[in-house]
Amino acid sequence: MRLIVMGGSLRSESLNTRLLRHLAGALEARGHEVSTFASEALRLPLYEDGVAPAEAAQALYAALREAQGLVIVSPEYNAGIPGHLKNAVDWLSTMRPSPWMGLPVLLCAASPGAFGGARGLMAWRVTLANMGALVLPEAITVPHADQQLDADGAPTDARTATSVPKVLDGFLGLASRLRG
Ligand code: FNR
Repeated sequence: MRLIVMGGSLRSESLNTRLLRHLAGALEARGHEVSTFASEALRLPLYEDGVAPAEAAQALYAALREAQGLVIVSPEYNAGIPGHLKNAVDWLSTMRPSPWMGLPVLLCAASPGAFGGARGLMAWRVTLANMGALVLPEAITVPHADQQLDADGAPTDARTATSVPKVLDGFLGLASRLRG
């Protein structure tokens, strides 16, 4: 399948970007074609009514329209969606035909905190449901990610490490049933 992996922060040491690269690799290793949108690819101008979407927004839109599934790896800012990612989603929500309707989505987060960014993912669910995306009930969260992600972004905690392949397979099953 053609899959998009999108997210991380604009920080060069972003834990979420590290996790994103690990998950993109795991999906590629399963034989899927993965396009990654992270860091600078998500530095879009603030959404403004009547202004044409920037080239980077158009590139993300075109990729999403072709994709059979989307993996979002998002930091949690104040129990919500970070501004740069919400801004990207807002741009893409104004473009037609909608890239979101019926799109299978897997949500992932990493945080130094004890909840692993799980509260931010609840905010993502509200926004994605509003646009018609179909979000897998299970998610990948990495708590204490400053200590529990290795240099390649793989979770080192045994419970998280065991759950990641299961959640990925659950997502791939959903995407293949809906769009495969
Ligand atoms: C945070 N952080 C944070 N963490 C968390 O678990 N829950 C939260 O609500 C917040 N809120 C928050 C707001 C703002 C403005 C910042 C800058 C940070 C901490 C955050 O999880 C931490 O900085 C991560 O390392 C950010 O992700 P990246 O940049 O490492 O991918």
